[in-house]
Amino acid sequence: MTEEADFKKVAQVSDIEEGQIVAVEVARELIVLSKLEGEIYAINEMCGHSNGPLADGFIDGDQIECPWHGSRFCLKTGEVTQGPATESVARYAVRVDGDDIFLGPVIG
Ligand code: FES
Repeated sequence: MTEEADFKKVAQVSDIEEGQIVAVEVARELIVLSKLEGEIYAINEMCGHSNGPLADGFIDGDQIECPWHGSRFCLKTGEVTQGPATESVARYAVRVDGDDIFLGPVIG
C-alpha cells in the first residue's frame, strides 16, 4: 500500500498549461508531468528506445513523440503507441491537493 510519506511535492497545477508538459527532477530522475483535461499525469522522461529526451518531444493529444526516432508514448499510461521503442516508460502515482502536485511511486 502506498503511504502518504511516499509522495513528494514536485510542482503546482498552475505551472502546467492544459495539453502541455513540464519536466521536473525528482531523486535524480527526470519526470514529465502533463495536464490533460484537467488531470495531472506523470511518466519517466527517458524514452524507452535509446533514452531520448521526451521533455523535448512533440505533444499530440494524450501522446508524446520522442524527438530522436519518433517513438510515441501515452502521457497517461507510459505505454508505447508507436515504435521503434518496445518498452513502455514508467508511470508514477500522482496526487493533487489544491494547486500542489505530489509525485508518488512507480505504478506501471
Ligand atoms: S530514443 Fe526515443 S525513439 Fe529512439
